[in-house]
Amino acid sequence: MSTTIDLAGQVAFVTGSTRGIGKGVASALHRAGASVAIVGRDIAQAQRVAAELGDRTVGVACDVAQNDQVEAAIAAAESVLGPITILVNNAGLTRDNLLIRLSPDDWDAVLNANLKGAFHTTRAVIKGMMKRRAGRIINIASVVGITGNKGQANYAASKAGLIGFTKSVAKEYASRGVLVNCVAPGFIETDMTAALPADARAALLSQIALGRLGQPDDVAGAVLFLASDLAWYLTGQVLVVDGGMVI
Ligand code: NAI
Repeated sequence: MSTTIDLAGQVAFVTGSTRGIGKGVASALHRAGASVAIVGRDIAQAQRVAAELGDRTVGVACDVAQNDQVEAAIAAAESVLGPITILVNNAGLTRDNLLIRLSPDDWDAVLNANLKGAFHTTRAVIKGMMKRRAGRIINIASVVGITGNKGQANYAASKAGLIGFTKSVAKEYASRGVLVNCVAPGFIETDMTAALPADARAALLSQIALGRLGQPDDVAGAVLFLASDLAWYLTGQVLVVDGGMVI
């Protein structure tokens, strides 16, 4: 068994990778030798981040909630980099509100991006992975998909759904060499969490055993492991990366 992570020859497609956790994950996969498709809704931003990383990259655009856009983006990435061997479903958004104030639009926006988006991308890559009898799919869920959270019924449902999706797809394709796992981050400092008021941030911090908020690289390390040869015997799992917030 190799004890280093070498992803040379692998091709990763990381949704929502123009900033935050997705960008951290894409950079880490690239540093480990993989070719990487940077995927955002804005093509100029995706191409800018791809250029920042350098060789073995391409920037493509899609709204993951739109199946036709996803299929086109995957075809565009594969035409430049070759068949996708690692899919990271990271794109996601929040539209927080208490249930009584949550609109059907808020529900649909979150479920369509966070859950249906992963269905679209997975469906588009799974045939190729099955044929090659190899593939890694890593879904970025959240601890709130396990614990629930006030004001996030739509978001928590989308992430719990993603965990159920992960386990089901893991069972369907294990015999074809495709491993499917989740990473469930706790509180990671990104644009998504930047608006949290100082008192709420301090309250959260007090619950984190390791005594600090997470960074995108903390999540990237877990993704790198799940994409690597070190994780051959691991599928259908949820790896919680939260500094010990939920133990
Ligand atoms: P972020 O807001 O900085 O990045 C999310 C990215 O996804 C953005 O680039 C955004 O444009 C993209 N995106 C959103 N909807 C999209 C769509 N329909 N199609 C294509 N791209 C879309 O957020 P962050 O924090 O980097 O989050 C990344 C993932 O990690 C999300 O799935 C989020 O739910 C999850 N997560 C984040 C945590 C945190 O504390 N920041 C905790 C747990 C999970």
